[in-house]
Amino acid sequence: MTMFTDDHVRLDVLRERAYNYRWAEVPEGVIPLTAADPDFPAPEAVGNAMIQYIHGGYFSYTPKLGFPAFRKAIAKALWERKGERVPEELILPIDSAARGMYDIARTILKPGDEMIVFDPVDYLFRESALAAGAKVVLFPARIKDGVMDLTDLERYITPRTRMIGLCNPHNPLGALYRREDLAALLALCEKYDLYIMNDEIWSDIVFPDAQFVSILSLGAEQCRRVASVFGFSKSFGVAGLRIGCIYCTDEALFRRIVDTSAVMTTAGGIASICQVAGMACLESYPWVDAFIAHLTENRDYVAARLAKFPPIKANKPSATYLYYMDISSLGVPAEVFTDFLKTNAGLALVPGGEKFFGPGSEGHLRLCFATSRKLLREGLDRLENGLALWAARERA
Ligand SMILES: Cc1ncc(COP(=O)(O)O)c(C=O)c1O
Repeated sequence: MTMFTDDHVRLDVLRERAYNYRWAEVPEGVIPLTAADPDFPAPEAVGNAMIQYIHGGYFSYTPKLGFPAFRKAIAKALWERKGERVPEELILPIDSAARGMYDIARTILKPGDEMIVFDPVDYLFRESALAAGAKVVLFPARIKDGVMDLTDLERYITPRTRMIGLCNPHNPLGALYRREDLAALLALCEKYDLYIMNDEIWSDIVFPDAQFVSILSLGAEQCRRVASVFGFSKSFGVAGLRIGCIYCTDEALFRRIVDTSAVMTTAGGIASICQVAGMACLESYPWVDAFIAHLTENRDYVAARLAKFPPIKANKPSATYLYYMDISSLGVPAEVFTDFLKTNAGLALVPGGEKFFGPGSEGHLRLCFATSRKLLREGLDRLENGLALWAARERA
């Protein structure tokens, strides 16, 4: 794919701009396959739309609930890409998926409430619940036959449970949910009067051999208690612009979230130019499709390489550009091995463990493969070399 070759990765710019464990934060010579952020520049149309807006010369206040054209474009994309029927009036553009999760948590949870958070899952589920004063109850997330196994979930519900966090597709496991499991989840919510925080930030990055099913496709009425977020960071490589949205199918719930978000007082909200960028992103799905084609090849390449690294066990992800690997056979905390890799093999990966994904991810690593084949090959060579150095050290 011509847009995703090595010449499109501009390391000089990334070293200045890519933070959050990436190029700007690692020592010279280290390859960071860390935070879930592409090494490729955003679609050209995004920058062009921003430049054009800047030339207009005004940066006035925006409508409190976001530009109508942006809300409309999001509604159209939700329907066309994912079969989600959400009226544009119930979509709130917001400054990132992370912000959306915090707003949802603060709307629904009171101090003393419990939120069920999968273990492992992205730390934002835990952090947003804790920020709302709630208690986090961890549900051990397991993959069975390639999909998330929800068999035991009901056992984790107590009289204090108020919300369940749903990460679909799942970061870091790269897994999807089946329609029947989502239906069972909704039935649990109905039975126990629970809400769902539904994070679909990864819903564009789904491989051709898998199928994404959104909980919202089960029907608006059934999803009255579902508050969803989408973010633009993963699909379009615009994490620094902080673009996302919250959406619901229930108007009363939407109003409550809008109140919490403080957009009506102008204390919260997304910048005008970021909404302009967001609209250009939504016009750039052909770019996303080409990106997915590149990622599919990269995923298969990682799978083929890892099969030859015996200490590592891993499932091929169905979605996301993240590879989750079991290194428990090394017998050390994941962070000990990622520190070793960084110092001795020049490769930075994200360690499993309490901090990023929860205690259930101890003994695992996460690798981001949203890069060029050349960098990925070099990264995997370094991982192979790091494993050999580790084994030699253990023998010594
Ligand atoms: C599951 C999940 N939710 C939310 C986020 C945060 O996204 P944003 O950049 O829009 O805050 C991430 C980023 O990695 C993520 O993986």
